[in-house]
Amino acid sequence: MLHENLSAPEAAEAVAGLLENTFCQCILHTTEHDYHMTCFSRLKIKTQPPTKAGEQNLSHNKQKAYAIPDGEPCDFLIHLGVMNADGHVLKAHYDKFRQINKYLELVAGCVDSLPKDRRIHIVDFGCCKSYLTFGLYYYLVRQLGLNVKIIGLDLKDDVIRFCEQVARDLGYDGLSFLTGDIQSYVSGEPIDMVVTLHACDVATDAAIVQAIGWDCRILLTVPCCQHELFPKIKNDRMKVMLKHGIIKERFSALLTDSIRGQLLEACGYDVNIMEFISLEHTPKNILIKAVRNGRPDRQKYQEYLAFAKDWQIRPYLEEELARIGRIPERQD
Ligand SMILES: C[S@@+](CC[C@H](N)C(=O)[O-])C[C@H]1O[C@@H](n2cnc3c(N)ncnc32)[C@H](O)[C@@H]1O
Repeated sequence: MLHENLSAPEAAEAVAGLLENTFCQCILHTTEHDYHMTCFSRLKIKTQPPTKAGEQNLSHNKQKAYAIPDGEPCDFLIHLGVMNADGHVLKAHYDKFRQINKYLELVAGCVDSLPKDRRIHIVDFGCCKSYLTFGLYYYLVRQLGLNVKIIGLDLKDDVIRFCEQVARDLGYDGLSFLTGDIQSYVSGEPIDMVVTLHACDVATDAAIVQAIGWDCRILLTVPCCQHELFPKIKNDRMKVMLKHGIIKERFSALLTDSIRGQLLEACGYDVNIMEFISLEHTPKNILIKAVRNGRPDRQKYQEYLAFAKDWQIRPYLEEELARIGRIPERQD
């Protein structure tokens, strides 16, 4: 079923178009009349008294119910300049606001997989200015009242110092920030959830390796630019596609994300790959959600292997997962 709100002239035009190209008859209910229309050899319209005059339903016009609503002051968004002190989102930051809420909607779908009987440990790799990290903390701690510790990690020392100061200013006691590299980060405690949003190139893979190595319950990753496989993939049967640089670039990004999903499944995760936020806001809009099931899957690994051989590649993710013993070393 399709819902769309149109003005009266737009609705008339849409109905005329549908009768001409798609349907032979229709019943149009308005508050004043019902119109029975048929369009076989020519258009006939029968006007009758309204049968649904009292049933006006504009529910699909409602404002989307966001986890953090526009119009309600939210401390971190005010601090970061996304909202004014009255709680109204500034026009220039509306895309960021929407992105934070979309992210929290996805996080809401993961909460049941987090531990209930102890503190929850989360790492956000490549957090940068940390709008989403602050959003995650606000949602889990301030809104859901969970006992959570989050660490944001990034290579940029100045940004990390800024975020650390913001967390202290806001009194977000369970949130701290560290300067460091994803690959060499060592956690002193078990990590329940890894988040990595738009971490560049193989930094996403380094985060996936860490999450799998820690037996994390949840991984949420939105990959960013992808450079690793672009120069490596070869497949004679796909020449028609790969001879065009832009197609090869987009294709190698999709190939990379498919491999990430498959290797996560091989290592005992249920994987969902979905749209993060619509393409008009960012072209980097694929989200990989992985929830641990604890059952490494040999068949999925064999499928991966056949696929990788077909493309003549041995990606960083495969090599790293083999190094930590989560998949077999390749023999050839
Ligand atoms: C595009 S920003 C994403 C920021 C934030 N997660 C978001 O989605 O709004 C990517 C960040 O990843 C960081 N990064 C890239 N490689 C990294 C690595 N190996 N270790 C830690 N941080 C890394 C970069 O410094 C950069 O700040």
